[in-house]
Amino acid sequence: MNTNETVPARDQIRVWDPLVRLFHWSLVAAFAIAWLTGDEESRLHEFAGYTVIGLVLFRVLWGFVGTKHARFRDFACRPSTVLAYARDLLAGKARRYLGHNPLGGVMIIALLLSLLVTGVTGMALLGAKEGRGPLAGVATNTVTLTPAVISKAVADDDGEGEHEGAESAWGEVHEFFANLTLLLVVLHVAGVIMGSLAHRENLVRAMFTGRKRAQIP
Ligand code: HEM
Ligand code: HEM
Repeated sequence: MNTNETVPARDQIRVWDPLVRLFHWSLVAAFAIAWLTGDEESRLHEFAGYTVIGLVLFRVLWGFVGTKHARFRDFACRPSTVLAYARDLLAGKARRYLGHNPLGGVMIIALLLSLLVTGVTGMALLGAKEGRGPLAGVATNTVTLTPAVISKAVADDDGEGEHEGAESAWGEVHEFFANLTLLLVVLHVAGVIMGSLAHRENLVRAMFTGRKRAQIP
């Protein structure tokens, strides 16, 4: 079988640079910690969340100035290309890409966006709930302006705090995006497994070593 392990080193090619690999596995760790610590008030949760935001911002920058296969230009495809790839994958005849395949490219952009929105809504929640963080003040003022939030705040008002409506609204938005991100992660890992099977290569290993077999397919 043509897995990366059985291909001699001279037939392998560097695909993922060290920063992409470090980014990926740090993101997995920071996301896992943020996810596991979301249910209680915790500085660790905030720290992990800020780390996720920082990593995502770095990756967006690296998508413009980074190495060949790290660039958005290399893997952001038009919808027709993505659909054609999905059809070919289901038919068992998808072509192999050295970098991310077109479906993987869509997933990466979706993941980065969803992670960023989760992080920003987390900061808004922290601002509304505890008046702390970069969005303290902004979050409370913005949220109370929407009619739905005003009526919820009035309905919920038990006189215990002026920001409760904003807090619960941001809490729900933050939770929604955290769940959406988790769903995307599950699909992402399923995609990695499918891609590995379809092209008989160990994509997870390649994200550690940075190397893939050179020849296509
Ligand atoms: C243990 C679970 C995971 C495994 C095994 C895994 C594996 C991989 C692999 C193999 C790739 C490269 C795909 C390719 O060859 O085209 C990749 C890319 C990526 N994964 Fe994961 N992943 C995991 C969890 C996550 C999580 C939790 C996130 C985000 C929260 C994530 C976000 C990404 C992103 C953004 C990329 C693009 C990498 C880049 O180009 O910088 N992954 N993942
Ligand atoms: C980007 C990664 C993040 C993930 C995956 C994440 C995930 C979660 C989850 C799952 C919850 C529990 C929601 C619920 O069940 O009600 C939560 C709550 C919360 N998150 Fe995040 N979060 C992230 C980033 C942030 C950031 C950057 C901040 C602020 C700096 C933040 C602040 C909060 C706060 C204040 C809560 C409420 C905690 C409590 O119940 O007291 N989050 N988060």
